[in-house]
Amino acid sequence: MSTTATQLLVGRDLELRLLVEALNGLPDHGAALVFRGEAGIGKTVLLEAAGGMATERGVRVLYTAGVASESDLPFSGLHRLLRPVMERADELAPAYRSALLGAFGIGEDPGGDPFLVGLATLDLLSRQGASQPLLVMADDLHWIDAPSRDAIAFVGRRVESDPIVLLVSWREGHGAEVGELGLAEYVLDRLSDSDSSALLDARAPGLPDGLRARRVAGIRGGWQGRRDGHAVECSPRAGVRRALG
Ligand SMILES: Nc1ncnc2c1ncn2[C@@H]1O[C@H](COP(=O)(O)OP(=O)(O)OP(=O)(O)O)[C@@H](O)[C@H]1O
Ligand SMILES: [Mg+2]
Repeated sequence: MSTTATQLLVGRDLELRLLVEALNGLPDHGAALVFRGEAGIGKTVLLEAAGGMATERGVRVLYTAGVASESDLPFSGLHRLLRPVMERADELAPAYRSALLGAFGIGEDPGGDPFLVGLATLDLLSRQGASQPLLVMADDLHWIDAPSRDAIAFVGRRVESDPIVLLVSWREGHGAEVGELGLAEYVLDRLSDSDSSALLDARAPGLPDGLRARRVAGIRGGWQGRRDGHAVECSPRAGVRRALG
């Protein structure tokens, strides 16, 4: 996570303002925000920018990310998130502690009760946040295992008066469940023509005109090509990554 990400971010002033507002609320107020958008539209780069801004402000960053291969491993996403602060688990009430440790396969209690795990996660993060405000990020939440996802959303619905900002990304097209998380959602639009041009000029300067125009169109998404005499959709998804690559 570096400030470089913020500096290199093009056309996301509104989103950056939302992030600054959320971070400025710390430590008195927490916030939770979901960035939704198509593959490659710039969700992760926004989270990286948030991480850079948080670090600059002395806010500690905790991070987890969904990985398709761990989607079926209960609590794997939460384990990755909480691992750096698990030394404070001893401070939790016994019922919380055993629920959380049990969820991670530690201790005698099988643990994993969803309500207790949610409460334990919230309590652990609040205690940590009292020492140093937190930015808690879950990239690609759609790939995070369901019990972890529930615990993360449980926290997100309760951080209003805690020194915690929760930031989540969700790739469009991976089910409707994101709407059921009860968190404020922000849908990322495709970049405008001028932002797409600016991004391309910054990242791939000096392209021949024809290729440049195709790449800009690729970033905008939905550009048309021709096959067998018919117009076809060549770029069904916003293609910032694809067009830059
Ligand atoms: N607004 C932007 N300014 C600068 N670079 C951007 C912007 N949006 C996307 N990019 C670049 O495009 C590429 C794809 O962005 P990113 O990985 O953040 O997309 P994503 O939405 O997280 O995709 P996925 O759904 O696959 O995780 C990266 O190289 C990123 O740096
Ligand atoms: Mg991503």
